[in-house]
Amino acid sequence: MNRSIEAAETAESAGGPSRPSSLVVVSNRQPYSHDRTDGELSVDEPAGGLTAGLDPVMRTTDGTWIAWGDGDADESVTDETGRVRVPPDDPSYTLRRLWLSERDVERYYAGYSNQVLWPVCHGANWKVEHAERYFDRYRDVNERFAEAAVDTADEDTTVWFQDYHLALAPRRVKEECDAFCMQFWHIPWPGWDGFRRLPQREELLDGLLANDFLAFHLPSYVERFLDCAESGLDATVDREAGSVRCRGETTTVGAFPLGVDAQRRHEQARSVPNGFWDSFREDHGIGPDERVAVGVDRLDYTKGIPERLAALERLFERHPERRGRLRYVQKVAESRTTIPAYRRLGRTVRDEVARINHRFAVDGWEPIVHLEEYLGEHELAGLYRHADCALVSPVCDGMNLVAQEYVAAQVDGNGVLVLSELAGAHELLGEQAVSINPYATETFADAIEEALGMGARERQERMDALRRVVFENDLESWMDELFETAATIRG
Ligand code: G6P
Repeated sequence: MNRSIEAAETAESAGGPSRPSSLVVVSNRQPYSHDRTDGELSVDEPAGGLTAGLDPVMRTTDGTWIAWGDGDADESVTDETGRVRVPPDDPSYTLRRLWLSERDVERYYAGYSNQVLWPVCHGANWKVEHAERYFDRYRDVNERFAEAAVDTADEDTTVWFQDYHLALAPRRVKEECDAFCMQFWHIPWPGWDGFRRLPQREELLDGLLANDFLAFHLPSYVERFLDCAESGLDATVDREAGSVRCRGETTTVGAFPLGVDAQRRHEQARSVPNGFWDSFREDHGIGPDERVAVGVDRLDYTKGIPERLAALERLFERHPERRGRLRYVQKVAESRTTIPAYRRLGRTVRDEVARINHRFAVDGWEPIVHLEEYLGEHELAGLYRHADCALVSPVCDGMNLVAQEYVAAQVDGNGVLVLSELAGAHELLGEQAVSINPYATETFADAIEEALGMGARERQERMDALRRVVFENDLESWMDELFETAATIRG
């Protein structure tokens, strides 16, 4: 279901017609975590994205959300079965927390999920570590997630698995109960040539095909999954119908590009207080005549941060007149820091920023503001609203929601999106963004110049078109389409 910006502004309903009446969501990350700081209990709220989008659906269905309880005070607020009612200020559904040991986290989360499946799905095969050593624990933890789901589900329940941490859990659920199982795979699916290297490929495919409905962001990921099902298992694939038949079961497979809560981002940007931008600039020493480019990323090697820095360096080399006139604000969030490749990336980025800043410094001015501290949603919205352009340059990304959030926050429509052709979001936004290949440093630098030099009218036209796409394909329409398809499959 597509909706216009106007309709989106008035739509409030949390439960579309096809929303399941009994819903169990299963994900690795939890929607709320409880922590204790200086003896005070605090709750970490969902910071937008899927969690915030699912929250209203969970409230209306009084469903159960099963996830890893990783907050340091999580256990102190749950009952003996790991359950706690959330949201804390208006308890309306159940969060069931699973406790993972250090070994579980090391092997299931940091190990098989993030050092095997993540690199394989993002085409970084050389980063794959110890697939065999980690797999047993991945299977164990998947079984525990599945048991928790079976505990809660019956044949009228829809069990909705999220992402690559849980490829085996659907099979276990189906062995135990007759619930309807669906899964959304939030990252790319690799070609058979990459996937086949996994010794556990059959078990993974078998686990995923236990779902009645399996969804990816893009048609190309669906195609590749179907190739793998055909080559890796004795499965019959019907490409036109988008279905796989294997061992007497049928799985419907389809593409449903995830959107953002565009209206929320729009509102946040619209309500940025007067003076926010002036004080942000002042705090970071950004002069009144300086243009601002922004990049916002989790510190992950798929995000193309060193490649972006290389393009900026090239730009300042070739355009000395930009020195003192253009500032790049880079906001990064640390991620998966127990994994060496992530720690190395953090060091590389910090070193590169320091080197480039040193190289081009003039009279106390430096080209890059590097922010690692927490920025609230409102500050982020303010940054997106006022930045002249956003640089989104992943070398591989399932979708990339930063690109969509930047567009949703562009309430004045003046900004330009510079977007990697290697991001899933490019399929939606590529026509009106300035496209780049993150590895092509020279043309990437040209593209930033083009974005900065673009006339007001062209900027406005492109941004209007981008905003239509982002609002029409927002989080709610994504969820409606998924649940409508699920309802059709269920019959
Ligand atoms: C990606 C994955 C999510 C994951 C997120 C953050 O977007 O698709 O499932 O939650 O990264 O990573 P983390 O390892 O911190 O959960």
